[in-house]
Amino acid sequence: MNVYELQQEILRLKKQNDICILAHSYQAREICEIADFTGDSYQLSVMAKSAPQKNILMCGVRFMAETVKILSPDKNVYLSSKVASCPMAEQMDKEMIVSVKERYPDYTVVAYINTTAELKTVCDVCVTSSSAVNIIKRIENDKILFIPDCNLGDYVQRQIPDKTFKLLQGGCPIHARVTLTDVRKAKALHPDAKLLVHPECAPSIVKEADFVGSTSGIMNYARSSDDKEFLIGTEISIAEHLQYSCPDKRFYPLSKDLICPNMKSTTLVDVYNAVCGEGEEIIMSDKLIREAGRCIFKMVELGG
Ligand code: 13P
Ligand code: SF4
Repeated sequence: MNVYELQQEILRLKKQNDICILAHSYQAREICEIADFTGDSYQLSVMAKSAPQKNILMCGVRFMAETVKILSPDKNVYLSSKVASCPMAEQMDKEMIVSVKERYPDYTVVAYINTTAELKTVCDVCVTSSSAVNIIKRIENDKILFIPDCNLGDYVQRQIPDKTFKLLQGGCPIHARVTLTDVRKAKALHPDAKLLVHPECAPSIVKEADFVGSTSGIMNYARSSDDKEFLIGTEISIAEHLQYSCPDKRFYPLSKDLICPNMKSTTLVDVYNAVCGEGEEIIMSDKLIREAGRCIFKMVELGG
């Protein structure tokens, strides 16, 4: 079977087996093409809730599938690649955060959505990269303990100088690979290009950017901009998808190292196997769904 035939077979099986396929924008083009929805981590979980299908297949990483299950507990949720976990989401465990909270008892614990369900049970509010600034502005407490990404935390802190932040030393190992040397080289090669970066990049990189935003924020900005050239400071697939959808513009990855092996561990063959019934089902106890759900619903309540 060639790629096209495999895609047609996946489309047939997903219909037959009542499956909705969600693909994060870091997935390869051939996977996005057969998805019902593509988007950023939060958009996907919201879309899953309104999907008529009983079964949801997440092509992304584990915390995203968990978020879908928490928001849609009556659906059967599957992850297309068993090894697709986000290293940042697993950097901190519940016990560690409980002990940090003892040192900062009057702080509101804000968790980036890139955290495990287990960790979310001890946090107060969840945020995504697109909602973090607005949600934290609306939290009544002006003392914020932000976990796990200190780069996103630093970015948010600069937008809200009247609140006090405590940041821990966590973050995305992929976005951390981008250096100022990469920025200098890319700008020298493409002097007219606008620099668009994800706030998971280091503050020194964010400072150089023309636009900072989530994966969807970057894509929307580039599509609607009158500019013609862009340096893309996030996972390499975003530059690829943009180049495909805007052939009259030019997109350059800020660094060729911006490849997330966990996101890229899902192949079209994994998706085929999953629609045949071999995906990993996300099983969570009612207690875990309820306790982890608290901080996600708080985000929704605050307008995330
Ligand atoms: P988004 O929420 O922007 O989709 O980001 C998810 C992610 O893993 C970024 O590295
Ligand atoms: Fe996690 Fe970074 Fe990969 Fe995003 S790019 S899924 S934060 S490791």
